[in-house]
Amino acid sequence: ARTPIIAPSILASDFAKLGEECRAVEAAGADWLHIDVMDGHFVPNITLGPDIVKALKPHVSIPFDVHLMIAPVDNYLEAFAEAGADIISVHPESGHHLNRTLKRIRELGCKAGVVFNPSTSPSVIEWMMDEIDLILVMSINPGFGGQKFMHSQLAKIAKLREMIDATGRDIHLEVDGGVTTETAPLCMAAGATALVAGTAVFKGGPSAYAANIAALKGG
Ligand code: DX5
Ligand code: ZN
Repeated sequence: ARTPIIAPSILASDFAKLGEECRAVEAAGADWLHIDVMDGHFVPNITLGPDIVKALKPHVSIPFDVHLMIAPVDNYLEAFAEAGADIISVHPESGHHLNRTLKRIRELGCKAGVVFNPSTSPSVIEWMMDEIDLILVMSINPGFGGQKFMHSQLAKIAKLREMIDATGRDIHLEVDGGVTTETAPLCMAAGATALVAGTAVFKGGPSAYAANIAALKGG
């Protein structure tokens, strides 16, 4: 089986020691750093903005996987790109012109991702596979960590895997929400390549990070 890319979600870290936490997961084997940006409007929670991303950048060398849960999203793409985002993922519902938004993300030098809420259909991206570098499937309703994995999303992951394979391109397929050592293999079997994990990585504190990440990679 393929080994997943593991992207710890810093939402589950100790925000009072954010720099240290990011360095610790990087040292523990994290592949990407997943950064959840929430505006209290698109989702019912508020987290952090571009200044914090910028402050973290010099402390971490793994790619920054920035998940924007803000609307309207377009006005903030440049700020996150300048702050050091490597991947910027947006929800189709966070702007009126997904195609324009994805093109802009690439123009800014970042990889462009599309995020699917549990109710969002794969058909949203049917006519713009060429503009996409990553697909992020939410297996929870966005806004909070620590929620239960929605098994209904596994069929969507499989459907998106077929759509990706039909392009012949290497588009990442990432899953976010309720990823644990139990649900990770299900995501991988459905065709995922990358897994976001908040609770499952940060539980137990820094001394547990390496074992937590290794367990998600399959032991
Ligand atoms: C929620 C975020 C997730 C969240 C996942 O809106 O997008 O990245 O941190 O947390 P866990 O892994 O605890 O479900
Ligand atoms: Zn996320």
